[in-house]
Amino acid sequence: MIKAIKGDITKLEVDAIVNAANELMLGGGGVDGAIHDAAGDELFEACLKVPEVRPGVRCPTGQARITPGFKLPAKFVIHTVGPVYLDGKHGESAKLGNCYRNSLALALENNCKSIAFPCISTGIYGYPIEEAAEIACSEAKAFLAQHENIEIVFCCFLNRDKIIYDKLLAQ
Ligand code: APR
Repeated sequence: MIKAIKGDITKLEVDAIVNAANELMLGGGGVDGAIHDAAGDELFEACLKVPEVRPGVRCPTGQARITPGFKLPAKFVIHTVGPVYLDGKHGESAKLGNCYRNSLALALENNCKSIAFPCISTGIYGYPIEEAAEIACSEAKAFLAQHENIEIVFCCFLNRDKIIYDKLLAQ
């Protein structure tokens, strides 16, 4: 089951919420900032413990890491790092697709029955929302074709995003 809602992802009572993080994975602005604020300092401590794969990089672009949700209603936070959008000719779509696929795989590994995504890369990282939403919906549909027992929620903070997701999901 896939649905789009409008709201604040930090309030959702789902098994896992996905954070649009950066490769350092120690917080930031946007949804990253909101999730860290709501989860509390323990989330920062948990991120600090995630090993760097190379200096300054705990989570390479397209990959995903999981931590507890601490003060959040969600059990887990799955941190993923979307691509910074340049011109669409630098592998951005493949990297964004990896974010959704790797986050869903990690959710399944942790027996999550529900997962909520923000619109990854479409804020500070500048990904055009229509293209990003198409990638998100096609990855979600492909995943559900293999594993029906997880509910996927696209949590749109902005009305314009919800309208786009609703159109795509109605197809
Ligand atoms: N709930 C749901 N969605 C939210 C929330 C929230 N509380 N706050 C912001 N968003 C939405 C934004 O409106 C946007 O649609 O999350 C989407 C992603 O935007 P960003 O948070 O800017 O993420 P991104 O574009 O992936 O850039 C990541 O921003 O915050 C930094 O540390 C982060 O460096 C990383 C970069």
